[in-house]
Amino acid sequence: MAERGDLMTRLDEAGQALVDREVDRRGFLKCASWVGAGTIWTVSGGLVAACGTALSGQGAGSATSTPSGLYFVQISDSHIGFQGTANPDVLGSFSKAIADVNALPQRPAFVIHTGDLTHTSTAEQFNTVKDLLGTLKTPKVVVVPGEHDTVMGPKPYLDVFGAGSQGDGWSSFDMGGIHFLLLNNVVDVVNLGHLGTAQLEFIEKDVANLRSDTPIVVFAHIPMWTIYEKWGWGTDDAAQALSYLKRFASVTVLNGHIHQVMSKVEGNVTFSTVSTTAYPLPAPGTAPAPAPVTLPAGKLADILGIREVRYRGAGRGFRLTDDHVS
Ligand SMILES: [Fe+2]
Ligand SMILES: [Fe+2]
Repeated sequence: MAERGDLMTRLDEAGQALVDREVDRRGFLKCASWVGAGTIWTVSGGLVAACGTALSGQGAGSATSTPSGLYFVQISDSHIGFQGTANPDVLGSFSKAIADVNALPQRPAFVIHTGDLTHTSTAEQFNTVKDLLGTLKTPKVVVVPGEHDTVMGPKPYLDVFGAGSQGDGWSSFDMGGIHFLLLNNVVDVVNLGHLGTAQLEFIEKDVANLRSDTPIVVFAHIPMWTIYEKWGWGTDDAAQALSYLKRFASVTVLNGHIHQVMSKVEGNVTFSTVSTTAYPLPAPGTAPAPAPVTLPAGKLADILGIREVRYRGAGRGFRLTDDHVS
């Protein structure tokens, strides 16, 4: 077993290369020595490299190349309302994450929150999150729900964040030549994430008239590849959704839920989960259950993160940069 923070490469059942990276102080510092700030994931040719190191393929830019194109930020799993030793002040850490986004040298075109906005779906928690998201210095904020946002069904979430969405809260939009899908895969969750028939039909129709060279970005809370089935870290009908996206040259699926960064590239699809602004969860299979982990004093900030995402142009994909919350 690799030491915490080391880059680990292994093969999944299908023989695909699977590159995982845990987010910790050591890892970030290692990357900081390469690029000055943050962890850069360069996606190219079927593999993901950390710290700006291209693992394979053509077109991978160096860590210091000048990026261009659409730029947005992903935050996730703020769990407003959580009370526990793993993070006694989720409101404070979420506020710090927002301050960090607002302090970025470039203003993002939009900010996506990939779910578990709240911990127990109360109206007060939703309104608190909405107010805080309203302080982001960005023209647009979009969200998808997590299973903590729908513990009483989708209505409390939809009452606050459902404007412009369909069904139980799915929608799409276009920006900078990229097509974005906002999905709700916490519908009818038993163990794994679930999209459901109505949403699958929406996806199929939504992309039907797009040119195949349109870059696609999918946001959903629960990972859309199976990371650890026993803990429900996957989506049972993701394969059906992804079948509608097979003809596209570039598909990027960005998720939350597991409170740590893991990435995989399979065919035309890059999957990547982001860190949390609230508390850590164990690495897959390393604990009896995916319960909040209380770190030694002073260590929580080491794992909290935000992500910058920059489109680098046709054939070059997206650069994902995972930063610590300061
Ligand atoms: Fe979460
Ligand atoms: Fe979740």
